[in-house]
Amino acid sequence: MKFDLEYVMNSALDGIFIVRNDGQMVLFNRACEELYGISRAEVVDKACWRLADFKNSWKTISNNGKEMPYGELASRKERMTLSHKNGKLVWVETIYTPIFDRESGELVYVMGVIKDITELKVIEEEKKNLLEQVGQMRRELESKYDFSTIVGRSPQILNALRLTAQVAGQNTTVMLVGESGTGKELLAKAIHYNSPRASKPFMALNCSAFPDTLIESELFGYEKGAFTGAEKSKPGKVQLAAGGTLFLDEVTEMSPPAQAKMLRVIQEREFEPLGSVKTQRADIRIVAATNRSLENLVKEGKFREDLYYRLFVYPIVIPPLRERREDLPEMVDYFLSKLNLEMGKKVVGIAPQALEILMNYSWPGNVRELQNVMERMMILSKGNRIEVEDLPKYLMGPPHRPNGGLSDPFPEGVPLDDFMRELESRVIVQTLKQCQFNKTKAASLLGLTRSTFRYKLSKISPETLGPPASRQ
Ligand SMILES: Nc1ncnc2c1ncn2[C@@H]1O[C@H](COP(=O)(O)OP(=O)(O)O)[C@@H](O)[C@H]1O
Ligand SMILES: [Mg+2]
Repeated sequence: MKFDLEYVMNSALDGIFIVRNDGQMVLFNRACEELYGISRAEVVDKACWRLADFKNSWKTISNNGKEMPYGELASRKERMTLSHKNGKLVWVETIYTPIFDRESGELVYVMGVIKDITELKVIEEEKKNLLEQVGQMRRELESKYDFSTIVGRSPQILNALRLTAQVAGQNTTVMLVGESGTGKELLAKAIHYNSPRASKPFMALNCSAFPDTLIESELFGYEKGAFTGAEKSKPGKVQLAAGGTLFLDEVTEMSPPAQAKMLRVIQEREFEPLGSVKTQRADIRIVAATNRSLENLVKEGKFREDLYYRLFVYPIVIPPLRERREDLPEMVDYFLSKLNLEMGKKVVGIAPQALEILMNYSWPGNVRELQNVMERMMILSKGNRIEVEDLPKYLMGPPHRPNGGLSDPFPEGVPLDDFMRELESRVIVQTLKQCQFNKTKAASLLGLTRSTFRYKLSKISPETLGPPASRQ
């Protein structure tokens, strides 16, 4: 085949045109025809400013003739829209290249290469919209985890709030200590959203929700091929929280290898994903939480002492609800108005006798249990006030304590399903107590996988487990 420059140009996917220094268009390839929606016959050998946008781009040439700033033109990259004849708006980016006469060094031609960047523009536009949405959501979250949403004026809660407000702005590691449902995660979020890291992610990891073998990959991620089944690399929570805060819930349940790696993250700010030799920086603030006594676990050798000291830099204790009963009326009001809004109800208050019962109950599940009870009462309530009849029966008598004995006769009138469920929950509770609440041990004693055990446990109401203080 004979070498044919024009043929080559017409095969190019990018638009290519060449304009002579007198302003005449000398080449206009096929891609240009498509981009502009005009045929080359309409522009070739004609003054290039017949096309409106050329006129703007090439002002320099037409005004100054040979004295145009070559350097500037050569480095010029322009983005503009072309209105295609079919009415579509096409975004293009054009790069201009001056072509000089070999002997005289004068500018003779200028070549333009035009790329269609419409798709890129669409993506940029989407990105801009997404960033705006993220910003909006973040502002909503900030107001949601503003200190005003943390209810309670007891000296204990005020003290916890004061400590939280003082430490939020620092990078200090915080340890939240309190029974389940006391508001540890709520405080962790308040710390994050009131810190300089507020615009970066808040990531939570419940260390007890993963078996020992998985916790490391959840935390630190893994590389492709790190283990069988790792077909793609995956970031861990430490990477996902970059620049933000990592909330380590039930931190005592972390496996020993994960504890060692976490210690290094805190001390050196470094880690490696599973199967990787490349060290990564960990720019995270750590807020940890526990509902068990860490000191005892350290004494028993179940939790690394060095990590314990690193985590316990700034403890904040949130006492159980039964030790700050004066917070209850305010909380009841708070949940009433919150649930009214969410459920579209108009319950305005609670009967004094009903409040009295709530005040006397021990709340082993703390604020979470109160919130659940309130929700249930709101569903049941027929009038515009919560009455004693709306309360669940177990709030009234002494707390139901299963004796663990399985010799009770089969009670009359109880459906078999309910009885079996009750029996199962008793076996689980008894085994748990026997194993000092070590879930892994209890699961293996019962011949269940950890996840099945967890599932069954989640179906058991917290009060059946006894006050969490005894679960240490
Ligand atoms: N002081 C409080 N004021 C308002 N809501 C609270 C308070 N404490 C806890 N809650 C609510 O109770 C529930 C349980 O709190 P959470 O932070 O998850 O407890 P924990 O992490 O200690 O188990 C959440 O819905 C939380 O918003
Ligand atoms: Mg929690």
